[in-house]
Amino acid sequence: MTTRLPRVGIAGIHGHGASHVRTALELVRDGRAELAAVADPRPTEADLLGGAAAGVAVFTGAEAMIAEADLDIVVLSTPMHTHLPLSRAALDAGVHVLLEKPPTPTLADFRELVAAGLAADRAVQIGFQSLGSAGIAAVRDLVAAGAVGEVRHYGALGTWLRSEAYWTRAAWAGRRTLDGLPVVDGAVTNPLAHATATALAIAGATGESDVSAVRLDLYRANDIEADDTSSLVVELVDRPPVAAALSLTAPRRSEPAVTVEGTAGRIVYWYTLDLVQLFEPGAAIPITSVHARTGLLANLVDHVAAGAPLLVPAASTGGFMRVLEAVRMAPAPTPIAAEYVARVDSDAGTGAVAPDGPHRVVDGIEAWSERVVREGRTFAELGAPWAR
Ligand SMILES: NC(=O)c1ccc[n+]([C@@H]2O[C@H](COP(=O)([O-])OP(=O)(O)OC[C@H]3O[C@@H](n4cnc5c(N)ncnc54)[C@H](O)[C@@H]3O)[C@@H](O)[C@H]2O)c1
Repeated sequence: MTTRLPRVGIAGIHGHGASHVRTALELVRDGRAELAAVADPRPTEADLLGGAAAGVAVFTGAEAMIAEADLDIVVLSTPMHTHLPLSRAALDAGVHVLLEKPPTPTLADFRELVAAGLAADRAVQIGFQSLGSAGIAAVRDLVAAGAVGEVRHYGALGTWLRSEAYWTRAAWAGRRTLDGLPVVDGAVTNPLAHATATALAIAGATGESDVSAVRLDLYRANDIEADDTSSLVVELVDRPPVAAALSLTAPRRSEPAVTVEGTAGRIVYWYTLDLVQLFEPGAAIPITSVHARTGLLANLVDHVAAGAPLLVPAASTGGFMRVLEAVRMAPAPTPIAAEYVARVDSDAGTGAVAPDGPHRVVDGIEAWSERVVREGRTFAELGAPWAR
């Protein structure tokens, strides 16, 4: 705990990091934290810092900020290959860390990260923001109360679209390795990582030792190394498995969800909306509830200032890291034959033409994905024509 307002520094403020800056400025306005510094090799526009620019030190790298800015908390929203070295630098300096997901590119690095946090007696919170929702406990409570009967399996469903340009926007985009180092930037491990992490949390399988095996079925429709059209079944110790269908090759962006398939009902948890729907057999409409969410930076500030329990300590993402490691070690994803892939320049849901050009769509991906989570089998096991 600290006696001053926690001093926050944010590394990587363009891209996703801009949202951390906005959150930090809200905490400043509420008198809960101080935004002490930001760091990025790309220039920082004063606009990004709102009216607070005058008091915020600006660095061109996280390393110098950690060494010089007298921080209590650092947010690391930088590319994945920097996560372990920058976390280590912060922990060595006695600074608590909010580290963006996925935590690290390998399971060995993850174990080092967890050990470094313990050795330094500092918090390492992982940026799976959906895990800050009370919706997760609400779903677990429904299951424990027998609302769906016996659980057959859990599901993680994500059908999004990404333009061809998305995969060329950064050197590490869509890569399995870069300059010989693992980066693992596919649908399962990066854009839709939240779906699997949330399903594992609902299943209560957060630790590394809760996962017994991972059955992968990975494909790609884009000219990339990593997977963009993926299904998998995660076998868990002493509980039913998680079946996931996670694709960036759908005709439209649909809301992602975690499901619980039971013998006497079904739960759909819309995890970006904190919204739970319980479908009871024979009922015309689901029972719906919406739950509160705690921001992970706010939670870390409260942890540092007043000892609040951490919502997403690094060790609680061990189950997800087992999935990431399986993807990393798996053979390269299978290319989908051109006859099953269309090139489309608008979102079928909104009709909007994508400003950054066309995206690829896999034949029937939405229906096959829904079957994966309903039936608990992979695309190949279900017999999708492009899956072989
Ligand atoms: N939680 C979420 O929903 C979510 C969403 C998107 C991205 N992310 C994660 O956030 C991280 C960043 O992703 P992104 O898409 O914003 O990447 P990005 O490449 O768009 O942005 C990363 C930023 O970090 C900066 N940077 C690189 N090295 C740095 C260093 N040593 N010090 C300071 N700044 C440095 C870059 O200049 C860039 O501005 C990744 O781990 C990604 O998976 C999380």
